[in-house]
Amino acid sequence: MITPIAYRKTLEGKSNAHLISFSDGHDYVVKFFQPGFERSLPNEWVGYCLARYLGLPIPFARLVEIPPEFIAQVPELKVMHHTQFQFASLYVPDCTDGHQTPSNYSISNHQSLAGVILLDYWLCNRDRTRKNIVLCEGDQGKYQLWIIDHAEIFGAYNWCASDLDNLSEQLLKSATHGIMATNIESEDSFTDYLDLIQTIPIFLIEEVVSMIPEDWMVTKEEKKAMVSALVTRRKSILPHLLQRFLKKVYHPLHEKNL
Ligand SMILES: Nc1ncnc2c1ncn2[C@@H]1O[C@H](COP(=O)(O)OP(=O)(O)OP(=O)(O)O)[C@@H](O)[C@H]1O
Ligand SMILES: [Mg+2]
Repeated sequence: MITPIAYRKTLEGKSNAHLISFSDGHDYVVKFFQPGFERSLPNEWVGYCLARYLGLPIPFARLVEIPPEFIAQVPELKVMHHTQFQFASLYVPDCTDGHQTPSNYSISNHQSLAGVILLDYWLCNRDRTRKNIVLCEGDQGKYQLWIIDHAEIFGAYNWCASDLDNLSEQLLKSATHGIMATNIESEDSFTDYLDLIQTIPIFLIEEVVSMIPEDWMVTKEEKKAMVSALVTRRKSILPHLLQRFLKKVYHPLHEKNL
């Protein structure tokens, strides 16, 4: 397992994410377990694994351990709650977020965008704001888009099991989804990603959920409820949400562009 080498800084945002250099020569954004935000790390883990399976542009991530001797030297970390594992996402340098990027930007990896939108609807991620994407300028003024921050999937960073039976079935308000939709070239990519989501083996979803570290305090029943919400939503709810998204967001945007 990689070990932390140097503390860099605290990043903006309510998660108190920390930028730390590790022994593999890379910087990672590390999130610690926070009382009051108990589901942030389990959400990040599950969101990350499912996005990876779908081949979406999410920075490589892993569980890390920050030794007490390292924490003792860093005032910003001493005040954090300490579990055995933290969630670490590979830092994407020299990029901007959706606020800092000139409006109407073009996205180079547009083939993935329908997958990102469906992931957000599947997982009930109400936090796909302009700040929760990272944009890296490349050739011809186009930007490569990365998705970050899945701390609020399942509707919240502090859900309880009963909430998972009642996740929103409404359209999400997200200007970022609008920008993504504008960049999508083929409506067929939505159905391709829907197929992919619906055919993820259930045992793989169970495996991902079962790997949530013990001390992140998700009970066996809550893990079951997570799997059940994922399986129910992808089958019965996601297809309807997709139709509504196409009708209310995607089609109007593309008619305007004709
Ligand atoms: N992998 C990454 N690469 C580059 N920057 C990142 C990465 N992960 C996080 N960041 C930066 O750190 C900030 C905080 O991270 P993140 O959005 O995951 O947590 P947050 O504190 O929950 O944010 P929010 O206030 O939106 O809920 C991001 O807005 C972004 O600027
Ligand atoms: Mg964020």
